[in-house]
Amino acid sequence: MSQIRGRFNKDADKLTEAYTASVQFDKRLYPYDIAGSIVHVRMLAKQGIISEPEAQTIIGGLNSIKEEIEQGKFDFKPELEDIHMNIEASLIEKVGEVGGKLHTARSRNDQIALDMRLFTRDAIAQSIAGIRGLQKSLVDLAEANKDTIIPGYTHLQRAQPVLLAHHLLAYFEMFQRDAGRFGCCYERTDHLPLGSGALAGVTYKIDREFLARELGFDRISQNSLDAVSDRDFVIEYEAAASLCMMHLSRLAEEIILWSSAEFDFIELDDAYATGSSIMPQKKNPDVAELARGKTGRVYGNLMALLTTMKGLPLAYNKDMQEDKEGLFCTVDILLATLEAMAGMMATLRIKADNTAQATKQGYLLATDLADYLVKKGEPFRTAHDIVARIISYAVSQDKTLDMLSLEAYKQFSPRFDEDVYSITVESSLAARDNIGGTAPERVAQALADARKALEESST
Ligand code: ARG
Repeated sequence: MSQIRGRFNKDADKLTEAYTASVQFDKRLYPYDIAGSIVHVRMLAKQGIISEPEAQTIIGGLNSIKEEIEQGKFDFKPELEDIHMNIEASLIEKVGEVGGKLHTARSRNDQIALDMRLFTRDAIAQSIAGIRGLQKSLVDLAEANKDTIIPGYTHLQRAQPVLLAHHLLAYFEMFQRDAGRFGCCYERTDHLPLGSGALAGVTYKIDREFLARELGFDRISQNSLDAVSDRDFVIEYEAAASLCMMHLSRLAEEIILWSSAEFDFIELDDAYATGSSIMPQKKNPDVAELARGKTGRVYGNLMALLTTMKGLPLAYNKDMQEDKEGLFCTVDILLATLEAMAGMMATLRIKADNTAQATKQGYLLATDLADYLVKKGEPFRTAHDIVARIISYAVSQDKTLDMLSLEAYKQFSPRFDEDVYSITVESSLAARDNIGGTAPERVAQALADARKALEESST
């Protein structure tokens, strides 16, 4: 048996067969395809469309095919085009003609829409679990280093001191949004398309509510044309994955910077670093670099599917077969990246002495100095100006702010007093005591909230 050739007078050209086949990649959908078929057959029997013994025979056949695939014994044939035809042909071979009843009241168009939704639902659940794992690593790392201070940056220039925990919790927030986005995507994926037929619905008295219930769908698609031609849920998954990879690549970039000799803020665990084939001294952050690099392919997959779907007339078009490889690739990259980054974050070592030292240079307390003058009555804009001149003076003297004498300060403004020396990295942190600020108490609360959110998400 080869591709469906009923109305044709000759076999498909070998090239046509090879070009149109998808089984080499859509075989991955077999558990979903078989689960969907079993529920479909049960529904057909329940509705009296086929007999109960026929249903049992078909289900037995499908289960043994599943076993064969799992044991690597199934012979996938590209000439049978896709996973659906491969399974159906093998079923008929096994159980005889009755196997041909499986496809009653169904088309490959609603069948593939079902398989893709079942696959994507699982992928979403796994993605959210992966995100939770990484978030836990971030919270653990933040908690274990809760007093560590680092320079905060803007324009990659040292700007103001922040707690390392505050910085890590910024990523926690990003991944919260990502998990939320996957959750929303799940809601729109969780619609049963089966029962839409090729495009217009089916002529049998089927029970779509039963199908939805048995396959765990929350809703039933309301328009058959839409149901077989909708791939929004795949695009949404890929969009959510792209955003998540964007966040991962930003975190990866910071790890790469921080592990360089120029920053020297962290040391990667040996298990998460690789060596160079020529330079014996190298300890390369390959995991982080690949997380950054693979992001490109995930964006590419999103753009590819958007472009494939653009301008497609209703309803099913073979173009849509192109949705699979990109989705599978994106899911594989995202899950692997989340896991690898979680492991890397869980094992890296923070060099707190170095980060603290880095907050001492670069005039990170300049804003606090301006705020000091503001609190003594100076308008902020002139305070900013005064401090800018003080910094320029200190730079010319090669001094840090705490090395300047009170006389020197007073030359810039009479408002300066002895208490100017109480401006420290610690006071700078403590002063940022509003919701979302880096004050240690706020960060401790944020950490506790994050921990609680994680616990709640796992129940
Ligand atoms: N392999 C096809 C796909 O992935 C399955 C649906 C085929 N439908 C059809 N009318 N040729 O899109």
